[in-house]
Amino acid sequence: MDIEAQKRAAGEAAIEFIEGQSVIGVGTGSTVRYFIDALAKVKHHLDGVVSSSEQSSKLLRAHGIPLLDLNAVGTLDVYVDGADECDAGRHLIKGGGGALTREKIIAAASKQFVCVVDAHKCVDVLGKFPLPIEVIPMARSYVAREIERRGGTPVWRADCVTDNGNWILDVHGLAIRDPATLESEWNQITGVVTVGLFAHRPADVVLVGDGRRF
Ligand code: A5P
Repeated sequence: MDIEAQKRAAGEAAIEFIEGQSVIGVGTGSTVRYFIDALAKVKHHLDGVVSSSEQSSKLLRAHGIPLLDLNAVGTLDVYVDGADECDAGRHLIKGGGGALTREKIIAAASKQFVCVVDAHKCVDVLGKFPLPIEVIPMARSYVAREIERRGGTPVWRADCVTDNGNWILDVHGLAIRDPATLESEWNQITGVVTVGLFAHRPADVVLVGDGRRF
């Protein structure tokens, strides 16, 4: 199965997890796009969704699916989102699309995080995909130096301003054997908004486009 077919299979498979739900969280990316398309077919069951990005909000609006404010809906039962890398412990690297902070907020506020990926995203050790870090713009250079001191190679994603008005550093050259510790420590660097590691709040279930789930 090619990658695109796997993205579609994974995105569509997530529909079973939203049965009986009236409000859910929706992530960002090319895999979630298939989920959103499938969601449009059952939208009459939904009061609305909380979206993790302007990109997804646009798609959801085009399908006539109402958007809700997370502050108004409280805890969500289910959140569906993709990932850039996933290890066997369901720890993730996210943020390839720049939406990591809103994604992390919705994941934190959800009881069940359903992650949809193609098989190429599944790795033994996280870090081959450059780790995105959202930073306050004036702290970019300071945070980059701090990351270098810690052994990473940060590259400024110069063409990207996040939905929160911030910038992204993509950190190359990592082999993340202890994702929870790295997430905690790098989140403490002043000027970092969010590190795109989802280790303290990993996915609860990963649906892989080749039919596996774990
Ligand atoms: C968005 O910022 C990301 O976290 C996406 O969830 C991630 O990049 C996966 O995207 P694709 O499904 O497009 O690979």
